[in-house]
Amino acid sequence: MKVTVVGAGNVGATCADVLAYREVVNEVILVDIKEGLAEGKALDIWEKAPINVYDTRTVGVSNDYSKTAGSDVVVITSGLPRKPGMSRDDLIETNAGIVKSVTENVIKHSPEAIVIIVSNPLDVMTYQAHLSSKFPRSRVMGMAGILDTARYRAFLAEALSVSPKEIQAVLMGGHGDTMVPLPRYTTVAGIPVTELIDEEKLEAIVSRTKTGGGELVKLMGTSAWYAPGAAAAQMVEAIVKDQRRVFPVCVRLEGEYGIDNCYLGVPVILGKNGIEKVIELELNEDEMALLKESEGHVREVMSVLDKLNSK
Ligand code: NAI
Ligand code: 2OP
Repeated sequence: MKVTVVGAGNVGATCADVLAYREVVNEVILVDIKEGLAEGKALDIWEKAPINVYDTRTVGVSNDYSKTAGSDVVVITSGLPRKPGMSRDDLIETNAGIVKSVTENVIKHSPEAIVIIVSNPLDVMTYQAHLSSKFPRSRVMGMAGILDTARYRAFLAEALSVSPKEIQAVLMGGHGDTMVPLPRYTTVAGIPVTELIDEEKLEAIVSRTKTGGGELVKLMGTSAWYAPGAAAAQMVEAIVKDQRRVFPVCVRLEGEYGIDNCYLGVPVILGKNGIEKVIELELNEDEMALLKESEGHVREVMSVLDKLNSK
């Protein structure tokens, strides 16, 4: 199995590293536009193999897509990250151009690949990749839900003083401050979380989760990479090993949740064909209102992209 990761920056290199040391595939191709960057990071990951004991070969290339030919999965992380004071949406113009050209190059050499978008604004960049690839929705998806859920689970684990392994949770909606963590579907080893934490604390955790990306941007001056890179690698693993794992993933909704032609995070089954199934939960009125609010926000940014593309 062969995986290409485009963008050898913070997130892309972390994703390639996780894929290598976990031996998810035999071959990882890392691509970047900046001369030497991908080659250097791939070589560094390969030189770590004797220490961490793995045999996945990571190869770096500068903008040469012929080396990516026949990839089973392609992860696109190329694009600008946020700086303090920026929202993810502020990145749209630059990143749409990057995602468009990268997707075109990728599909030329790997027409059967499953494409995972990471670049921001995530939901709308997934839309851009869909427009550029014309692939079925099962093969174009965005990574955000695993990351956002992981933040929510980490904060809960800390507040409850339990292992993060015990926290199961679902989170839906766009990758922005209107994301929708769902306490009703959150458990601690099967125990509803609402039995273990008071409402006020839970509300504070939900709110911290929604701005979790911004919290890190403020601390570091750029956006996060360890959890995002690992989250993208986890999606790759579910696909190449046909694990049929259930994750929140950004996908074009086609009538599910009463929403059509909008890119939002929802729980799906991920397997060898990509999105094997979109799971439709029975949301209550309040949860549905939050999802609709998130839809409204994503649609606004989708229409900005439509205008950019019609110029
Ligand atoms: P970074 O700046 O460290 O890396 C981006 C890389 O993309 C750079 O090495 C750059 O040279 C490369 N690049 C730019 N244009 C390219 C092109 N046309 N072809 C190939 N490579 C190109 O940024 P970082 O931190 O890795 O973030 C990458 C993207 O992922 C950003 O848009 C960021 O906002 C997004 N992100 C999304 C998350 C999510 O949950 N979906 C989480 C974290 C970051
Ligand atoms: C994050 O949530 C900025 O989308 C990036 O960390």
